[in-house]
Amino acid sequence: MSSFRPQRFCGVILKCSRIWRILFIAVPWIGLTYLMILPMLEKLLAYTDYTSTNRVSDDVGNKRFQTFHHNSTKQRLRYLIEEPSLCHDSPDLFMISYVHSAVHKKENRQLIRDTWANLRYYPILRMKVFFVFGAAVSKEEQDVIEKESSQYHDIIQLDFVDSYKNLSLKGVGALQWISEHCMHAPWVLKSDDDMVINTFALQEYLAYHTKGELKGGNSFPDKIICAVWWGMTVLRGTGCAKWCVSEEEWPENSFPTYCSGSAFVIPTHLVPRLYDAYFTAPFLWVDDAYISGVLPREAGIKHRPVHSLYEMNYHLIQRNMIHGNRLFCHHPGRAASRGQWWSLILAKELNA
Ligand SMILES: *[C@@H]1O[C@H](CO)[C@@H](O)[C@H](O)[C@H]1NC(C)=O
Ligand SMILES: *[C@@H]1O[C@H](CO)[C@@H](O)[C@H](O)[C@H]1NC(C)=O
Repeated sequence: MSSFRPQRFCGVILKCSRIWRILFIAVPWIGLTYLMILPMLEKLLAYTDYTSTNRVSDDVGNKRFQTFHHNSTKQRLRYLIEEPSLCHDSPDLFMISYVHSAVHKKENRQLIRDTWANLRYYPILRMKVFFVFGAAVSKEEQDVIEKESSQYHDIIQLDFVDSYKNLSLKGVGALQWISEHCMHAPWVLKSDDDMVINTFALQEYLAYHTKGELKGGNSFPDKIICAVWWGMTVLRGTGCAKWCVSEEEWPENSFPTYCSGSAFVIPTHLVPRLYDAYFTAPFLWVDDAYISGVLPREAGIKHRPVHSLYEMNYHLIQRNMIHGNRLFCHHPGRAASRGQWWSLILAKELNA
């Protein structure tokens, strides 16, 4: 075989050396096969996920939990701001979305209100968004929350100390509020406040997905839809900074199967079961592992992996969200640049 000579790397494939011809033919085929195998792989993983979660709750899990389950002192969370008519005003909602937010992240909230949460984009889609807070730590903070609340009526505030290790309670508060006030919207979308979401494509995806399930005889999907993480090891000791979890906080060496907390979709009819699980499951402060892992395991709810809908690398938004078909992008940069991506999504969807 001849050594590599640039002048032989030619435009006309037939004139190339044999090795280049093989490469030209093989690479597209490998790519194509990969794209075809990926969905099958996701199905397979969903299956192993199913069997492995059952196994855990059958043997290892039970023993550990019996000692770990303390008698529940958990109570229904009390509302400080309830907004009972947020959903009731819209009997034909398609989706209710909740966003964990911190008081000082006002810019992020405003951007969400101006972009993907803005009702003027949804004459047909019918989606609403609310932000979840715990109790304010000061009078000034409470004033900020109440002022924003009276202007937008999209804040739910619950009576617990709003701290990093209480983030899980924000999720529980959202589940409680939805169970009590928004069961008529078929889908729940959880999102962080630094996500860019193509809600138009998401709605199409869910509508299509639902139709598929209807054909199969189920009235609705019964899984949490997300980028699934399997067998995530619990970080112990030092050096893991704010992610360290002690044995007392979580005795198992891994977390139950759970979702990337950036964004996930729950069929609403599962929400009361997840909320009920809060009263019996062990508490865990790692909020995504808790809401989308511990509670579903307790309630016997599984996950549907859809990694192909996520773009976690914001350098690839242009390619994969604007020109491709990804729906969720984590974009921790400036709020204004998320706004620019939203404009491009709008241009793409409204001209489609
Ligand atoms: C928890 O409840 C069980 C049954 O109700 C009881 O036997 C047990 O003593 C309780 N444990 C504690 C720590 O209160
Ligand atoms: C979480 O909230 C509860 C209820 O307000 C409070 O008792 C507890 O101290 C809080 N925990 C943390 C770690 O802030």
